[in-house]
Amino acid sequence: MKLIIAANWKMNKTAAETAAFCREMRRDEKLLEGLDVLICPPFTALPAAAEALEGSSLKLGAQNMHWESEGAFTGEISAGMLVDFGVEYVILGHSERRHLMGEKDNQVNLKVKAALKNKLKPILCVGETEEERINGATDIVLEKQLGGALTGLAAEQAGELVIAYEPVWAIGTGKAATADDAEKACAYIIKYIREKYGSDPALQLRVQYGGSVKAENIGSFVVLPSISGALVGGASLEAGSFSALVQAARKAVLH
Ligand code: PGA
Repeated sequence: MKLIIAANWKMNKTAAETAAFCREMRRDEKLLEGLDVLICPPFTALPAAAEALEGSSLKLGAQNMHWESEGAFTGEISAGMLVDFGVEYVILGHSERRHLMGEKDNQVNLKVKAALKNKLKPILCVGETEEERINGATDIVLEKQLGGALTGLAAEQAGELVIAYEPVWAIGTGKAATADDAEKACAYIIKYIREKYGSDPALQLRVQYGGSVKAENIGSFVVLPSISGALVGGASLEAGSFSALVQAARKAVLH
């Protein structure tokens, strides 16, 4: 399965900084061969990224969207507006949106459906807090988040998803999950999709691990049977460290 490595820049980088990053990444396009590598800049930098990436195999993603196509939703951006800039992927239900902005499973569900309807590929984020892990509730949390976000989806739509397993306690802390814990959670996600939607979507689905991924540890995740990529925050902000990370992932799976 083709690895998918996504750079989640969060609220970082101006348009000019984005263009400079893209130029640097494009110095070695060979690095991207055989992998899906995408950057998810803030909305305001999408036009600059789209322009800088023209003709490149580096893909473009967004970090959020609203489920309605237009209307009185001050401050929101629709799927159609993202597609307009050549955006192919959209991160949905990231833990920062769930925990800091109060985003609920039913809203994530509306977003997933709106993204698919507009031919955007959702990167659906799920994951437990530290307290939930300590209480042994990881699978229960994953089941609740998956059930809530995927309500009403057809089997063929489930197969189009990318699901990012991001334990909240590992995000931005430098404390990544162990390979064993990440594999267990990602295997649970695939099993959930298989039981609910059948084996075809489960085989098609790509599951990423996210949370303190860097060049030094990505290899230990992408070689695991249930993991097909990574969602990367901090280590994606500099072209040098992101290139090193992509290279390490390639090395781990392609050689
Ligand atoms: P991190 O962030 O790589 O900085 O831990 C990951 C994410 O939030 O997607």
